[in-house]
Amino acid sequence: MRLAGKIGIVTAAASGMGRAGALRFAQEGAAVAVVDLDAAAAEATAAAITAAGGQALALAGDLRDDGFARDIVRKTVARFGGLDFVWNHVGHPGPSTVEGVDMDDVALALDLNLRTVLVTTSEAIPHLRARGGGTSLLFTASTSGLVGSPNSPVYSMAKFGVVGFVKSLAKRLAPEGIRVNAICPGPIDTPMLRVFVKRPDQQTPAGMTVEDLVQRRASQVPFGRPGRPEEVANAALFLISDEASYVSGVALPVDGGATA
Ligand SMILES: NC(=O)c1ccc[n+]([C@@H]2O[C@H](COP(=O)([O-])OP(=O)(O)OC[C@H]3O[C@@H](n4cnc5c(N)ncnc54)[C@H](O)[C@@H]3O)[C@@H](O)[C@H]2O)c1
Repeated sequence: MRLAGKIGIVTAAASGMGRAGALRFAQEGAAVAVVDLDAAAAEATAAAITAAGGQALALAGDLRDDGFARDIVRKTVARFGGLDFVWNHVGHPGPSTVEGVDMDDVALALDLNLRTVLVTTSEAIPHLRARGGGTSLLFTASTSGLVGSPNSPVYSMAKFGVVGFVKSLAKRLAPEGIRVNAICPGPIDTPMLRVFVKRPDQQTPAGMTVEDLVQRRASQVPFGRPGRPEEVANAALFLISDEASYVSGVALPVDGGATA
């Protein structure tokens, strides 16, 4: 097993890529804290892990709350006895506009893409350090953190920030054996993709359903389809596992060739 004996946290783990990652990591031997706003879905994800013979802890709360963003680290360490990895996966699309922009939605995007991941990371570093190597931090950026995104300028602002944080931390923490990487998904078939495509300011032709819009978005990808959450989870598994022992500071696209 590729994560035997490891202990980790996955945020936004009750749906989409986070859920796929939590299940995959547990399958590979990790004990996983499943963190999400949706308590019932977090419990269901943790139950699916334990039903398959793995170890999981559901932690429900709002990551906009700094206390909760810290507590997830404390509770994971208290329950499992240490910490080897964190996948800071939580994020939010934010507004698609700039003129007349909704600043409450901007605040939510900056909080969930940037602020909370900083809070959790600051709490996690001493515990990762204490392991003496073999540990890592993984962040979810986006292809919008690598190239400009005309329909998501605020999101792109935040995800470029995530990539900058990752590269800086990778150099800062390298002497302590803590690897730091980002994963940069293209359009992935999850509820959040539907949020992205149905926001205003997308010149949506009349009569198009949300699924039509998903297909239109997918048609812009060289592979011609959205990614599956499991395809991102597999890339995340590599980056947090010891197989990536000489990999730090990368922002890995998992995007069907979109940023090629
Ligand atoms: N889906 C895509 O196409 C896509 C592409 C690139 C990057 N991303 C990034 O992936 C991440 C999540 O995407 P997904 O598609 O897996 O999402 P998803 O919609 O499947 O799940 C998001 C989860 O986040 C949880 N959540 C929302 N607000 C929260 C909060 N305040 N505190 C705790 N949990 C909260 C929700 O309850 C939900 O379970 C984000 O960082 C997003 O920016 C998504």
